[in-house]
Amino acid sequence: MHFVPTMGGLHVGHATLMAHARDLVKGSCSVLASVYVNPLQFGPGEDFARYPRDFEADCCVAAEAGADAIWCPDDGQIYPKGVEQVFRVTVPSSLQTHLCGAGRPGHFNGVATVVSRLLALVRPAVLVLGEKDWQQLTILRHLVRDLGLPVRVSGCPTVREPDGLACSSRNRYLSAAERDQASLLPRLLREAQQAVAAGQPADAARLQAALIEAGLAVEYVDIVDPSSLQPAAAEQHCRLLALAVRCGTTRLIDHAVLMTRSPIVAIDGPAGAGKSTVTRAFAERMGLLYLDTGAMYRAVTWWVLEQGVDPTDAAAVEPCLEGLELELDPLADGVQAVRVNGHGVTEAIRDPRVTANVSAVAAHACVRQLLTAQQQRMGQRGGLVAEGRDIGTAVFPDAELKVFLTATPAERARRRAADLASRGFEVPDLTTLEAQIVERDQLDSSREVAPLVQAEDATELITDGMTIEAVIDALDDLFRCRVPAEAWPGSAV
Ligand code: PAJ
Repeated sequence: MHFVPTMGGLHVGHATLMAHARDLVKGSCSVLASVYVNPLQFGPGEDFARYPRDFEADCCVAAEAGADAIWCPDDGQIYPKGVEQVFRVTVPSSLQTHLCGAGRPGHFNGVATVVSRLLALVRPAVLVLGEKDWQQLTILRHLVRDLGLPVRVSGCPTVREPDGLACSSRNRYLSAAERDQASLLPRLLREAQQAVAAGQPADAARLQAALIEAGLAVEYVDIVDPSSLQPAAAEQHCRLLALAVRCGTTRLIDHAVLMTRSPIVAIDGPAGAGKSTVTRAFAERMGLLYLDTGAMYRAVTWWVLEQGVDPTDAAAVEPCLEGLELELDPLADGVQAVRVNGHGVTEAIRDPRVTANVSAVAAHACVRQLLTAQQQRMGQRGGLVAEGRDIGTAVFPDAELKVFLTATPAERARRRAADLASRGFEVPDLTTLEAQIVERDQLDSSREVAPLVQAEDATELITDGMTIEAVIDALDDLFRCRVPAEAWPGSAV
């Protein structure tokens, strides 16, 4: 079951979430929408009493959007002992000290509590939420991950009215004049976004002044890291510019994603953890270029061999690198066309002679330096994912997402055995394979040049027992916490 929780007053934004859930449904899965105006998430003086409640209209919207059922629980179903007696989920303060959390104490605890309860009752496979409420989405993603709840979270880009105003149940409170005033929000956000994309510094104070001048009461204008929700550093390439204002008595929120280049994903980890298979598939799913660093090392090896130079001799290899030009072009089937100084070498770099010498060539500091610099040049505009040993530490330390993809030596030994068997090779016993893997890990971690290290800000993903599809899903989820779908669509789940 795919689940779209709402508080009703359904509009095209909600309908889009339901249609998105419908698109994600595989096999016999169905889409459930719920409507429950949760008293726990409203503060004193907020609009709980006047919140739009129109069951008939909500049913029509949900049915038209492709929901299989709509469920409107009452207070007794959600909080059987009453709201005073219920266990409450407390959101960590770091996630609610900024943005809406600051002005609405208790609000996100109320949201986290009701969503936990709804998840327990519905037990969906996928929870579909809107990016419109980015802080809520982020908090719920953290809730699901930290408590290990068995559900995936899928975020949907903000749906807007023709003039750009984000659809909201609360828009119906606006008078005609206020509605006009409200259209300034998306306009100013878009201007700020375009200015940043054009290389200007983000200017929250200027935006705030423009809102005040237009007669809107500003609650906050903040620039935060999309994942931690903490103030973002100016040099971050993907930031969230978010605001809340009061337009008359109506509270409106909106945001824009500030991007100074397309996203970069760095995937490091030990050999045999399945990095290249999942990285390739993940790149395809996300519409990112798979920067095949392995092919680059092979290309240099091909060139060194072509020059008749001893690949183990660093002093002889270094002069061959002078002016070396490598080019990688994405091809439709995920393979990359590789050229060295204009020679097409896509096939040639798979030659066994290259395979036999690539690790000797890659161990030279001069080769590493050259290729790191080339990879960084290729990454200047972003839009790529690369895997290796030091991508997140040395090549792209400012990647939006860094993952340390690993599996226990026992698991890697099992995978290696299965792979050898499937290719018709003799399979050593698992203890021997495991010992070889442990030895290789030690070697890779203690190399003088480019040792395998986990970046401090990398997320460790231990893939024992996971299918390839599940690993790609997990990468997708990690990526989506940091890069909103509205800024980089890729695919949603
Ligand atoms: P509600 O405001 O009804 O929103 C329900 C879902 O619709 C949320 O995931 C919200 O982000 C999404 N949504 C609302 N407007 C949207 C728009 N313009 N574009 C895309 N998505 C939009 O959010 C809540 O209810 C509650 O807090 C809830 C999660 C149901 C818990 O009570």
